[in-house]
Amino acid sequence: MAHQVALYKPEWLTYPQNPAELSPVIWMPSFARDAQGELTVDGTAVSSLVEEFGTPQYVFSESTFRARAAEFRAAFEQAFEAHGAEVSVYYAGKSFLTTAVAKWAEEEGLCLDTASGGELALAMRAGVAGGKIALHGNNKSEAEIARALTYGVGRLVADSVPEVQLIARVATELGVTAPVMLRVTPGVHASTHDFIATAHEDQKFGQSLVPGTAALAGLSQAELDQLGVTADDAYATLAAALALASESIDLRGLHCHIGSQIFEAEGFGKAAEKVLTYMHQLNERFDVVLPEIDLGGGYGIGYTEQDTPRGSAEIARELAAMVASTCRAVGMAIPHLSFEPGRSISGPSGITLYTVGTIKNVSIEDENGDTRVRRYVSVDGGMSDNPRPVLYESDYAVTLANRAPAGEQLLSRVVGKHCESGDIVIRYCYLPADLTAGDVLAVPATGAYNHVMSSNYNYLTRPPVVATSQGKPARAIVRRETEEDMLARDLGLV
Ligand code: LLP
Repeated sequence: MAHQVALYKPEWLTYPQNPAELSPVIWMPSFARDAQGELTVDGTAVSSLVEEFGTPQYVFSESTFRARAAEFRAAFEQAFEAHGAEVSVYYAGKSFLTTAVAKWAEEEGLCLDTASGGELALAMRAGVAGGKIALHGNNKSEAEIARALTYGVGRLVADSVPEVQLIARVATELGVTAPVMLRVTPGVHASTHDFIATAHEDQKFGQSLVPGTAALAGLSQAELDQLGVTADDAYATLAAALALASESIDLRGLHCHIGSQIFEAEGFGKAAEKVLTYMHQLNERFDVVLPEIDLGGGYGIGYTEQDTPRGSAEIARELAAMVASTCRAVGMAIPHLSFEPGRSISGPSGITLYTVGTIKNVSIEDENGDTRVRRYVSVDGGMSDNPRPVLYESDYAVTLANRAPAGEQLLSRVVGKHCESGDIVIRYCYLPADLTAGDVLAVPATGAYNHVMSSNYNYLTRPPVVATSQGKPARAIVRRETEEDMLARDLGLV
């Protein structure tokens, strides 16, 4: 996903033979062009969306979201059923969450993964059943844990020994039993940007499976003795011993998530093998049968032509086969499996519409020292509505949306309106030579980690989220932020 460093243009970007074409790797079937070449979303022309809701605007296809949610659920269910195992699919709400979206996920038969008290509050507001909600996070507050337990969430995913202790205490005080999964670190280095890789040892998530790390938790020898844990054990083993010893915790099993925007099956397979093998050891060690394993999410999507996303059926089949073969090898029945796809469901469901403003050519030198022109196209949003290019050097595609992008195409860079030179929306793209101020651009695959990571940098108001569905009028599910909203928190000279 990291962009290829190129002075002028990366090799993967080629001159478009048919600039009006919408690559199916990036654009889902909800997005199409009408007879005049204008982009439509679930049958609604972009010009009418812009007229009604303005730009920048996140457009989110309910039809695509529901179809992808249903498809992922069915793919995992079928693949594991073939091995006689059961599956739950949790939609990772951190990728894109509104009350409407939480309900759509629930209606499509998915559970909901929340990552904070705020996401949990949204799920509660949406009326998602407690038993279908998971609460994640590496630093849950006492209040977040209490809220989750009071609402009756289906699971809390504990990320450390202090968290297991805190959950046990809060559950005891509330007089309830806390369903807990332990997040472990399988030690797999996923091939993705370092900031979104989460299974190697030297980062904040998960609990180590490496023997000899139990001592790192800092418990006294007497405490370790009482739990039957030695200094040679892994940190995760200590966490499991603590959870099993608590009368207020129902230890459900193990969780891992190796990272995000990953294309290769290999990392997922290695992680599954490690976690299943370790769970088998835990079962033997403590004479229990932990019933569940959660293998997280992280399946990559197409942002540009260089990406190679795999279909849900292929991902599910491969994972099911790897899980089944590991369980066979260690001699254990396949536990209940769960998965947490976020981006792969929400990402391709959303696009962002921008209006073109100033256009400016600059002279640059290419790799050979030759002088070239780069066209800078400014739009009315930028890093406040999509921080991913700045954070992860992410590449995106773009297309002219309000009319057909015909004729000569020029190498361009789409930039935002923020006071920062890194405020790039599309680092490398081709756009029509006749592009002009007032044209509308559509950036695909912005459904995940855009709206939820948006900010008010430079006091820009955040865009609305407009939902489209086949056969239904487009409507805002999140309204545009107003300057009044933004200024309301400024308390003045107090
Ligand atoms: N489960 C857990 C425990 C996670 O931490 C995540 C993502 C997911 C599931 C969903 O992963 P997905 O299927 O969406 O890849 N802001 C970054 C991504 C951060 C991912 C955080 N955790 C980005 O824009 O790429």
